[in-house]
Amino acid sequence: MFLQIKEVTKRFEDQQEGSFEVFSGVDLKIEKNQFVSILGPSGCGKSTLLSMVAGLESITEGTIFLGDEKVTQPDTDRGMVFQQPALFPWLSVTDNVIFPLKGKLAKDERKKVAAKHLKMVHLTRFKDSYPHELSGGMQQRVAIARALAMDPKVLLMDEPFGALDEQTRHILHDELMKIFEETKKTILFVTHSIQEAIKLSDRVIVMGTRPGRIIADFSVDIERPRQRDDLRVIEMEKEIMSLLKVEINKVLKEELDHEAKHTY
Ligand SMILES: Nc1ncnc2c1ncn2[C@@H]1O[C@H](COP(=O)(O)OP(=O)(O)O)[C@@H](O)[C@H]1O
Ligand SMILES: [Mg+2]
Repeated sequence: MFLQIKEVTKRFEDQQEGSFEVFSGVDLKIEKNQFVSILGPSGCGKSTLLSMVAGLESITEGTIFLGDEKVTQPDTDRGMVFQQPALFPWLSVTDNVIFPLKGKLAKDERKKVAAKHLKMVHLTRFKDSYPHELSGGMQQRVAIARALAMDPKVLLMDEPFGALDEQTRHILHDELMKIFEETKKTILFVTHSIQEAIKLSDRVIVMGTRPGRIIADFSVDIERPRQRDDLRVIEMEKEIMSLLKVEINKVLKEELDHEAKHTY
């Protein structure tokens, strides 16, 4: 198995509330060149899980393997893209993309790698621009180019298109699909959009909460490009929606109960 999340538990130690378990015993096996999305109610631990795979967040219990290697810290074999592009404002687009390659490749090589990946996201024309000169969608493309430039085995994306307008989001969906086909990357993609998950993924994982865990694992056996009005897409959307509603209602109920207990 290519990426293996084995019996993984995450607990945070909180000063006021004591120990808080986000999820426990999460098991997930992902094949090479698979596009896997994770859906789940807000707060169920999607970002935490992705950060653990990235090596940015410690693993309380269990193990994560990438190939034969145990994940213990961040490395160039995993590239991460966040909702906010997090570019360095004082660096040009090219310099942002090659920043993580400093010390790994000679300067000429770095420029070549940047040019290749900026072409992939259609930003060649803006290679010398600065982040503030670009739209949100273009900035996010730079972040994607930067993550790909390290030639990671896995691309980790945490709601990467969540802050973009719908039109830009659709354009970036198409670009990401092309990149996925061309580079044969393995992609783990967190989103709160059921439609986005079904449109892009080979598999859609649904997480639940209270306690956090995986509650469903759908294979999307529908040829790409997928149309929103495809009956198979609509059916799957409905099924996932009803699963998620149960989970979201649990969170709402808990919040209401908490409020009732704390108002006098
Ligand atoms: N550093 C932290 N310390 C304590 N609790 C945290 C920390 N990071 C996240 N959490 C809590 O863990 C839970 C899961 O968060 P997160 O992974 O961001 O959820 P999601 O991405 O699914 O919305 C939330 O209840 C959140 O408040
Ligand atoms: Mg999140």
